[in-house]
Amino acid sequence: MKLLAPSVLSADFWKLGEQIEAVIRGGADLIHLDVMDGHFVPNITFGPVLVESIRKHCKLPLDVHLMIENADRYIPEFIKAGANWVSVHIENNPHIHRTLQLIKDLGAKAGVVINPGTSLYAIEEALHYADFVLLMSVNPGFGGQKFIERSIDRLKKLRQMVNSINPNILIEIDGGIKEENIQQVALADVFVIGSGIFSHENVEEQTRRIKEKLISLEAV
Ligand code: DX5
Ligand code: ZN
Repeated sequence: MKLLAPSVLSADFWKLGEQIEAVIRGGADLIHLDVMDGHFVPNITFGPVLVESIRKHCKLPLDVHLMIENADRYIPEFIKAGANWVSVHIENNPHIHRTLQLIKDLGAKAGVVINPGTSLYAIEEALHYADFVLLMSVNPGFGGQKFIERSIDRLKKLRQMVNSINPNILIEIDGGIKEENIQQVALADVFVIGSGIFSHENVEEQTRRIKEKLISLEAV
């Protein structure tokens, strides 16, 4: 099953509620929330307060991608606020076993994220106990960046690693994915799309088009 996770980073925050309702009507499976602290990545977004407000009105699972230093300290708050999937980067979480275990103990799905410049072998060990892996196909920090083509080969290799180490793991891909190139990353299970949805005039319609494309990819 291929899952669509619109990333609200590219939404119009003035109309955030309306736009989330639109992606839900269009067939979104998860809502992807990018948390940035201005240290690990050169941008600042939002914290648990926003997760909590979305949680009150939205029944879909909330997929919280943490791009922050000291994630262990904030994970409990995000899960309390309603995060269902929580992912942390391998690059700044050296005690990845402890961090993923903390997420699981608090009842959420635990994901490990890997940047485009990091060798896939860096997450080999974590694949044994993660629930999902998020492969970045842009350098994290901003929406609307260009897809890094090399990610296609990395995805193939990651799929092989997952198949041999722990086939239950879901592969999520994030960055520069659009209706036009989604086919190239069809080996993933979860597709994060920000500007490819929210830069369109009709957010609901665009979500539906992408969802239909994913359903057709599943049939292949
Ligand atoms: C980038 C974020 C992405 C971002 C994707 O750091 O992790 O989730 O919102 O946006 P697009 O789809 O526009 O590349
Ligand atoms: Zn993200």
